[in-house]
Amino acid sequence: MLMKRVFSGIQPTGKIHLGNYLGAVKNWVDSQGEFENIFCIVNSHAITTTQNPQELREKTYELARVLIACGIDPKKSCLFIQSEIDEHAALAWILDCNISMGEMSRMTQFKDKSQKNPKNINVGLFNYPALMAADILLYNADLVPVGEDQKQHLELTRNVAQKFNRDFGECFKVPEALIPKVGARVMGLDDPTSKMSKSANGANHAIFLMDTPDEILKKFKKATTDSEACIRFDENRAGVYNLLCIYETLSKKTRESIEGEFVGRGYGDLKKAVAEIVIETLRPMQEKYQLLKNEQGYIEKILEEGRERAREIAQKTYNQAKTFIGLV
Ligand code: TYM
Repeated sequence: MLMKRVFSGIQPTGKIHLGNYLGAVKNWVDSQGEFENIFCIVNSHAITTTQNPQELREKTYELARVLIACGIDPKKSCLFIQSEIDEHAALAWILDCNISMGEMSRMTQFKDKSQKNPKNINVGLFNYPALMAADILLYNADLVPVGEDQKQHLELTRNVAQKFNRDFGECFKVPEALIPKVGARVMGLDDPTSKMSKSANGANHAIFLMDTPDEILKKFKKATTDSEACIRFDENRAGVYNLLCIYETLSKKTRESIEGEFVGRGYGDLKKAVAEIVIETLRPMQEKYQLLKNEQGYIEKILEEGRERAREIAQKTYNQAKTFIGLV
């Protein structure tokens, strides 16, 4: 039986955090036997915000190392760097010409990012969703596992694929977003009303995958909660709800049994339990990451093989799109 194809991507900006892991990377790893996987380090997306060139280069390889340490198995998944396949930018141009200004202007992530960074609102940032659509459509992906913040970009991807197919002929597979039931929107520990993000400043905002056990425990101890005593899943109590959801995702226990576990106990116990399960989850990844630090050749080989495999698929789809639209 033909396996469904998965495509997803992650930016090599900042340090990868628990939100990235629970919202996306964990699901990439867990689905490796079930789907045919293609994962991309989207360094071309990264330059929509200001980057130091040398650091960007280093972070791209560093992210590859982290992803492999998290369990991405190069025998089961294709891993490659976006900028090494020219067809991404080339297809984005064709898609740009098929997306209305109106639709693109409704993208909330563009609005958020431009508000946060008013000095660098560039055209690339505005067009970001077209490049993301190109990433996905080039590989005829059936499924795109992402966190909730990417839902709108996926809708745009589906819309542009459908429009192109209608106007020029069946060229693209129309993909579906795969958003986890829990963990799709991990919130900042210091401010549980805002999404955990790589760019937020607070020292206790995010748990990074390479944080030490001490750092993790300290950050959870300081996590914002509330003044109610009872520990239960209540979306209106954002801080406690966020901690419980992290615990739920990693423990795989039901909500009922988790609430039962914490009857008559305080936030101190909850924070300690969440910290412990996060520390234990990250421990083997951190160990593997340390081992991979001396294996630059191995990482480069994986990315080279990934590039060759990705290129073959991407070139085929891009040539097809060019033909459909009359560019060849
Ligand atoms: P990026 O690099 O911001 O994030 C990578 C993945 O992590 C998810 N994520 C979260 N999930 C839960 N809680 C959070 N707080 C949280 N923060 C981030 C994101 O939803 C994402 O799945 N535009 C994408 C990268 C991209 C892409 C693609 C993804 C480019 N092309 C094609 C899928 C397919 C992004 O900026 O992800």
